[in-house]
Amino acid sequence: ANTKKTAGERLLDICELLETQVEYYNWVGFYFRNGDKEELHLGPYVGEPTDHTVIPFGKGICGQVAVSNENFVVPDVAAQDNYIACSITVKAEIVVPIFVNGENIGQIDIDSNTPDPFTQADERFLEFVCAQVATLL
Ligand code: SME
Repeated sequence: ANTKKTAGERLLDICELLETQVEYYNWVGFYFRNGDKEELHLGPYVGEPTDHTVIPFGKGICGQVAVSNENFVVPDVAAQDNYIACSITVKAEIVVPIFVNGENIGQIDIDSNTPDPFTQADERFLEFVCAQVATLL
C-alpha cells in the first residue's frame, strides 16, 4: 500500500502536533497566497472553524504579514485596529511567514486564548517549523 502522505496531510499533522503539545496554541492553521492574486486562502488547520477562508492582502494580521514579510506578534488582539476576529475567546495571535526561494508564499497563524503568551522562543521555533514546511511544499 502507498502510505506516503500528501503535503496537505503533513501540514494537518503539524497543526495537530502544535495545537496538542503547546497548551497556549489554541488554533493553528496555514494560509497560502492564491497564485498571483493578492489574497490568502485557508489551508489545513486545527481548531474552531473560521469564516475567514479568504483574506485580502493588507487585511487583518494575516493580510499584513502577506505584505510585510515579517513575523507579527500580537500580545492583545483587542488593541489592534486592523484585526479580523475569528472567535471571542482569542486573546493573542502570532503569524510567521513561509518563504520558498525567498518568496513569501504563505504563513502559519496561531491564536491563543491566553493573553500575551508568545515569546521570542515561539518566533524562533515557528520560523524553524516554517522552514521545514517550505521543504515539503
Ligand atoms: N485573526 C486573523 C484572521 C485569521 S483567524 O485568526 C483564524 C487576522 O487578523 O488576520
